[in-house]
Amino acid sequence: MDPREFWGKSSKFWLCLILLFAVLLGFYSQDTHSVVLQRMQPEKKESSERDCHLDTCRIPEVPRLVYPKAQLLKPTRVDVLVMTPWFAPIIWDGTFDSAILDAQFRNITVGLTVFAIKKYVVFLKLFLETAEKHFMVGHKVNYYVFTDQPANVPQIPLQEGRQVVVLEVRNYKRWQDISMHRMEMISNFSQQRFLREVHYLVCLDVDMKFSDHVGVEILAPLFGTLHPGFYRGDRQSFTYERRPLSQAYIPRDEGDFYYAGGFFGGSVPEVYRLTMACHQVMMADQANGIEAVWHDESHLNRYLLYHKPSKVLSPEYLWDEHMLQRPPLLRKLRYVAVPKNHAEIRNR
Ligand SMILES: *[C@@H]1O[C@H](CO)[C@@H](O)[C@H](O)[C@H]1NC(C)=O
Ligand SMILES: *[C@@H]1O[C@H](CO)[C@@H](O)[C@H](O)[C@H]1NC(C)=O
Repeated sequence: MDPREFWGKSSKFWLCLILLFAVLLGFYSQDTHSVVLQRMQPEKKESSERDCHLDTCRIPEVPRLVYPKAQLLKPTRVDVLVMTPWFAPIIWDGTFDSAILDAQFRNITVGLTVFAIKKYVVFLKLFLETAEKHFMVGHKVNYYVFTDQPANVPQIPLQEGRQVVVLEVRNYKRWQDISMHRMEMISNFSQQRFLREVHYLVCLDVDMKFSDHVGVEILAPLFGTLHPGFYRGDRQSFTYERRPLSQAYIPRDEGDFYYAGGFFGGSVPEVYRLTMACHQVMMADQANGIEAVWHDESHLNRYLLYHKPSKVLSPEYLWDEHMLQRPPLLRKLRYVAVPKNHAEIRNR
């Protein structure tokens, strides 16, 4: 055989094989990045403007979204509850398509509040660095860092449209007071600036890091997160405040979930209402000489029992790998505890 003929044929063969491979790869990668953004090309105007009605001639200039159709008879998750009895979605991996959500939330700015008071400033660097990798990627974010040591807030390179805003606040002697006064500080600053600056607030603990995607799927008028220690438990096992004297009291035959104090949020007006209400009842408790068993978390639980959240985040959004064994139903760990020496960090 003429070598030129051989190479001609074989290169066609390889070309076909590569094309086939590329098509197959495209097919299988649909699962993760399923949405293809296409800009609709204004088609050649076949008829002139004047011979059709104005509305039928208008060509939409919006990007087109292409994604796999939801299968009504094939639920995406059958191993976990994906909807509360008051029809709030419970957010688990596999139940949402980020590209659809990103398009829906494309113009929003998210405020993240985090408290770095006393020794807790040591957690900021890892917190912010991992947030830049995983938190609301592609969206505008204001990190509101509440701290008593503005000079110790680390400089972290930030993506476009994202900024760190340092808010200087006082500290308190007891870590319980620092924890509880977070509600007051968030409510004060909501009124002063958050209402003007951001659409949503996400209120987080600082002694944590992001380890996987946390995006706009969490956003809703009011959301709470299932505490990783109690998501399987029944009401009896929840560590709600059980003394009727406290404003955080929840009777044993009430309660939906046990929510974590370290991850909640919503629209700014809703977070303002929540933090204001929690602050006021904590002041009432203080006047009555009682402090709820889990401080601000106890009050958050009481609030969310009587103001049902519009979304509930699964424990994917708050996990502790050192305290808990990861069950198979947790496909992703998105935001996880950083080990700390409690005595060393809390009371200095
Ligand atoms: C939303 O974003 C798009 C592009 O990013 C921009 O053109 C548009 O003006 C924005 N709309 C609003 C209401 O901000
Ligand atoms: C919050 O605002 C109130 C009223 O302006 C003020 O009295 C209080 O000291 C503020 N609290 C904090 C923690 O800044």
